[in-house]
Amino acid sequence: MKKLKVLLCENIHPMAKENLESNGFDVELITYAPDEKELLEILPKYDAIGIRSKTKMTEKVVQNNKHLLTIGCFCIGTNQVNLEAAKKCGIPVFNAPHSNTRSVAELVIAEAISLARQIAQRSMYAHQGRWDKSALGSFEVRTKTIGIVGYGHIGSQVSVLAEAMGMKVIYFDVLKKLPLGNATQVGEMEELFRNSDFVTLHVPELPETKNMITKKELSQMKKGAYLINASRGSVVVIEDLKDSLESGHLGGCAIDVFPSEPASNKEEFSSPLQGVSNVILTPHIGGSTEEAQVNIGGEVSESVKRFLKAGSSSGSVNFPQVDLPVKGDSSRLLNIHRNEPGALSAINTIIADSGANIDGQYLSTDNEIGYLVVDVHASEAQKLESEIKKLEKSIRTRIVS
Ligand code: NAI
Repeated sequence: MKKLKVLLCENIHPMAKENLESNGFDVELITYAPDEKELLEILPKYDAIGIRSKTKMTEKVVQNNKHLLTIGCFCIGTNQVNLEAAKKCGIPVFNAPHSNTRSVAELVIAEAISLARQIAQRSMYAHQGRWDKSALGSFEVRTKTIGIVGYGHIGSQVSVLAEAMGMKVIYFDVLKKLPLGNATQVGEMEELFRNSDFVTLHVPELPETKNMITKKELSQMKKGAYLINASRGSVVVIEDLKDSLESGHLGGCAIDVFPSEPASNKEEFSSPLQGVSNVILTPHIGGSTEEAQVNIGGEVSESVKRFLKAGSSSGSVNFPQVDLPVKGDSSRLLNIHRNEPGALSAINTIIADSGANIDGQYLSTDNEIGYLVVDVHASEAQKLESEIKKLEKSIRTRIVS
């Protein structure tokens, strides 16, 4: 079988190249994001592409490169890819949604301690030549209660770290979530606000979480409590937060995400919270660590490899999920077809008529496409591939092993 060629753009972490090369792929690295014109020129040479957020896989690029087997987004978001067009062409797209989970959780813990000890402020004073050695208003986090809103990947990691520092953990989630350690789920958000010394937000951006924290919720928080938001900027009404801080109700806050953020490091940042006392402002760096970049390189290259070598689409953002263990003595045939009446029976008729024995089969569908993985004896795979390929509803058929 020919060696598959993968193009990795935008300085993707070298660990991705290493992982793919050690699994038998030809990998080329470029440091920049090619524009549409260049993508149209160069992509015909490659079987798969890895990008970060700046390379735009537009409908035109995807449509003109239907031969691509997969697109790996070595980042969290996938807005830079026309996912619908990719799906229609039978191209699964992978990303790394949770590679930076621990990084965010660690930032939250650092911020909790910084707020309780006024570290940002004391440091600024020291830089300015002012010696403020007072213990007044500085606290340990041990024995304090942290209230976590959204007990998903990040929220539950914060829970583990906070408890290790001797904090009491309570959390609120719309779903019933298994508590880690001694954490306790509360039934109402208000109960969490009333009982927490620190409130930290870890919900996704949804219509229901937009403006979730307004002056009403802030007033339910304990006097002197701290708010941490490293989720999404739309969750907190910043003007209400500013009022609560300036009135002395809240003791401080740490904000990593904002309703409007600069598009690049070159743009200026402004926020109503600038200059407010005991407020830590960070430029959306919750997930920005070297470790997260390594994790992203490893996680996405692994997904790309698993798809190219075994047809596993598990974790793809635009494709039905299939993850069938590979059997050593079989050949694996993949078929992506339009999910229309008769598509599967036409494939099964071809297999039945050939007399081939099926060692394993798995079908997963969504409204538009069906993804079928079939394990057959190696001697039968090629003939089946060429017959199934000819079906009008087939989008792509290939043998992976
Ligand atoms: P996740 O999907 O694993 O967890 C979210 C949790 O929130 C789930 O348990 C869900 O049931 C819960 N939830 C949803 N709606 C809710 C509501 N109305 N009230 C209470 N709970 C609700 O998400 P993950 O990975 O933990 O990410 C959380 C947030 O962190 C996201 O908004 C994400 O965009 C943000 N994030 C920020 C980063 C940064 O650099 N600051 C980096 C990575 C993620």
